Amino acid sequence: MEEEVIINVEHLTKDYGYGRGVFDVSIKVHKGECYGYLGPNGAGKSTTIRHIMGFSKPTKGKIEIFGLNSFNNTHKILAKVGYLPGEPAIPLGLDGMGFLRMMQDMRGERNDERLNYLLDLFRLNPNVSVKSMSLGEKRKLAVVAAFMNDPDVLILDEPTSGLDPVMQQVFIHFIIDEKKRGKTILLSSHIFSEVDATCDTISIIKDGIHVSTFKAADLKEGDIATYNIRFRKLEDAKKYAGTKHPSFEVVGVNNGRKIVTVKVKRDLYLDFFKSLRGINVAEFSEKPFTLQDYFMSFYKEEKTFAGLSGVEGNKK
Ligand SMILES: Nc1ncnc2c1ncn2[C@@H]1O[C@H](COP(=O)(O)OP(=O)(O)OP(=O)(O)O)[C@@H](O)[C@H]1O
Ligand SMILES: [Mg+2]
Repeated sequence: MEEEVIINVEHLTKDYGYGRGVFDVSIKVHKGECYGYLGPNGAGKSTTIRHIMGFSKPTKGKIEIFGLNSFNNTHKILAKVGYLPGEPAIPLGLDGMGFLRMMQDMRGERNDERLNYLLDLFRLNPNVSVKSMSLGEKRKLAVVAAFMNDPDVLILDEPTSGLDPVMQQVFIHFIIDEKKRGKTILLSSHIFSEVDATCDTISIIKDGIHVSTFKAADLKEGDIATYNIRFRKLEDAKKYAGTKHPSFEVVGVNNGRKIVTVKVKRDLYLDFFKSLRGINVAEFSEKPFTLQDYFMSFYKEEKTFAGLSGVEGNKK
């Protein structure tokens, strides 16, 4: 049975002009899943998240959370969601504990057991002035504030930015635990490893345009394979790399070693093997395909992804 949709973004467009903003983005986050929203700087992650929280009115599109229209229900949403902004604004005049108490009062809820657990987990001393806190400490304070009421839904904009590697790992384990406790999580990131470690569904956005959505498990099962083919003759390698192959893609050429690298979708294997018929191949090996490869390919301009059309998405 399909789980209930908690966050529903349909055809969101926010046009800031000059090609900036987000364009026709759709996202569905189901109850109990961890959804990764992955994209480079300026891709439109924070813009999308701010619209989900209802802080900004879309130019076009429908955005609902718990079935409520976001823009008209910001306060209700803030009360029910653990939200971590990309750039948390914490009043500098308070000390850490003062800020946490203020947030508890605003939500009308106080769960000190949970608060102490989080302060301990993230190793944060809240009894110092916010002004004197380091960037990472302020970040931790915002993380604790987002989680301290133990909300069922978490919306986290680049949650590990500013955290050191040890704290990033603590955070990743924490997210995995939260997922086990049944939480629904949407997190944005430009770090593939944290999304790979935590998320069930992953969406990639670039230049405001949704590029692809896929299940992390599908990628892990190796739906797409990368092969290195070492040719005996350089001219064969060059000719093979220069030929347009309709059902798979040449992603690299090393003339010195006469190696051509290709990406092939597993159900199009046969086409790939046929393409090697009659060519003198010295060696042939498979490289495991990772989310990192997949993500990096979207950083490169004018990249086509032959054979990857099996994943849902629209490409520029
Ligand atoms: N209020 C605004 N007015 C005008 N342009 C904006 C505004 N907010 C965002 N933009 C533009 O929209 C695009 C997307 O910005 P956004 O902050 O959503 O990116 P992001 O994916 O969160 O990036 P980062 O990883 O750097 O946080 C950028 O080109 C940005 O300059
Ligand atoms: Mg951002």
